[in-house]
Parts: sequence; C-alpha cells; structure tokens
Amino acid sequence: MLGLALVAVAVSAATAVNEHAPTGVHIAFGTRDDEMSVTWHTLASNPGDPTVEFYPGIIDDVSESSDAPQVSRVEGSTRAFIDGGPERTVRFVHRVTLQNLEPGAIYSYRVGNPATKTWSRLFNFCAKRNKSQISPAKPLKLLALCDQGHRESAGVVQLVAAEVADPATRPDALIHCGDFAYDLDTYSGRNGDRWLSDVEPVAAYVPYMTSQGNHERAYNFSHYAERFTMPGHGARTGNAYYSFDLGPLHVVAFNAEAFFWPEYFDEAYMSRMYEWLVTDLRAANDDRANTPWVMVHGHRPMYCVDPKVPDLTPHANKPEFAGRLRVGEASGEERRGERVRG
Ligand SMILES: [Fe+2]
Repeated sequence: MLGLALVAVAVSAATAVNEHAPTGVHIAFGTRDDEMSVTWHTLASNPGDPTVEFYPGIIDDVSESSDAPQVSRVEGSTRAFIDGGPERTVRFVHRVTLQNLEPGAIYSYRVGNPATKTWSRLFNFCAKRNKSQISPAKPLKLLALCDQGHRESAGVVQLVAAEVADPATRPDALIHCGDFAYDLDTYSGRNGDRWLSDVEPVAAYVPYMTSQGNHERAYNFSHYAERFTMPGHGARTGNAYYSFDLGPLHVVAFNAEAFFWPEYFDEAYMSRMYEWLVTDLRAANDDRANTPWVMVHGHRPMYCVDPKVPDLTPHANKPEFAGRLRVGEASGEERRGERVRG
C-alpha cells in the first residue's frame, strides 16, 4: 500500500502544473531599432506587473554575489485572452518591451513575476545589429519558414534550434509566414501552448517575426493577434501587417488572409491595409540607398491562377492588389509551378 501511495504522490507531483509559470517565451523586434519585445503567457493571473530581468552578456545563473552583472528590470502589461471555444479558456498574455538596447549587444534575460517569485530559465539574444555591424565576415542571416505544426514538425524545430544554439550559426531573425501549430486554437488552445513551448528554444533567442495563415482563422484570428507582438502592436493591425528594417533589408509583412475571409475583413480593412502598404513601399523605394533589399512575406502566393485549387483562387480584389506591387515575395502556400507576377 505504501508503495502504491508513493507512486500516486510521484505521479501527481509530476503532472502538477504551475499555473503561474511562464509559458512560450518568445521575442520580436520592436517598433524602434533599439527595442525588443518579450511575450509569454501564464494560465493564472499574477499579482503585480510582468517583469523581464536582463543582464549584459551571457550568464548561466542569477547570482546575488557582488560581482554579478548589473541587472535591469523592466515591467510590462498583461492582457487576459479568452479562447473562443466552448471551454472559454483564459490565458494571461504578458508583454514587456526592452528599450535602449545597444546594437549588436548580447543580453541574457528571464521573465516572470516578482510577486509570485516565478521565473523562467535564462535565455539570451542579440539586439538588432546596425548596418555597420553587418559585413562579409559576419553577414546578415535570416531564416524563413512557414507551415509548422506541434505534432508535425519536431525535426524542423530540432534543426533550427541547433542552428540557433550555436553562436557561429545563429541567425539575426526568423520569419514564420503563417500556419502555426495546426492549430493555435486546437484543444481550446492547449495545442498552441505546446507549440509555443516547442519553439521556445528558437523563439526565446531569435526575433520570431510572423505573418498569419489560413490555420489562424478561428475566432477571427484572435490566437494570432493575442499570442504574438509584432512591431506596432496595439494599433489596428492585430500583428497582421507591419514592417521593419534589418541592415540592408526592409521586411514587410502583409495579411494575405484578408482576401479570403470577408466575414472578418471588410472593404475598410482592405483599403486601410492597401494604403498602408503603398505608403510603406513608396518610402522603402525612396530609401533604397539605405535598404536596397525589400522583402515581402505573406502566407499565400501574391498571384495565383490555378482554378483546381479553390483555396488558392484569387479573390476579386487580389489581382489588382498584386498587380500594383513590384517587389519580391515569400509565401507559405504551395506555388504549384506558377509564375508569380512581380
Ligand atoms: Fe496554409
């Protein structure tokens, strides 16, 4: 009986979930070049403000000794996100923006809550490098992928995590253009939680820059809008369209899904995104001396004519929209051998 009781206690301890524990830590470039946003969630509401502690350089543990590196603490905000499914599961999404980072400097950090004394492990990142720090000896490196699931993509995550873990091969940033977890909302969002934990060895170390795909459509793309923090977050874009510069590159994310879900995206939304995109690309074109490369990413091909694939058949507005763009394109959906207007 004692043996059984011990087993029961051990099992219960192993499966206990600390609802205050930070889950799915990920970072992204901020609105300004010297910013980095840090996002995570907890299943319980924490007293006080979410906090990031960060340190110059790489450290392995948080020491109280006098020669420990100087810690900086930044507080952020929390938003309760209610999943749209029948369980109405609540997650508390915490966001902190680190500012005045030195270009190209390495920082270690952990996230958590001083009131509950619940902290993540330590991670580290390299602040956005400026143009003068990008050279043939240390070129700009960007990874891009799309369509990555919790159950389907363990091997890919493992490969990318190994590349990120090695300082010699770590990219400046990663772009994920849609379809996360299959899906973020599955099992009342628990599948999305697991996926964010899967990619933490990547996304907590390298800015994880995103655009949304068709698999984010549930509940008006709310899991995508609520779980990520892209530049300009808090505006009307729900992380769906934004841009940033990275060395000689101007990177633009746009909402390719807007053409396929009229129940969510109306004419006013289309006009707003279109005007924003035109203004952004004109400015980028005027600034080619500074950013000679312009890269646009979205989940679907910009221009698609295969009538046998209803999912890819262009919306009536799409050819006109696409036809006015004259930039390269990265896209998640299959190209099926088509020529893409560009
Ligand atoms: Fe897709």
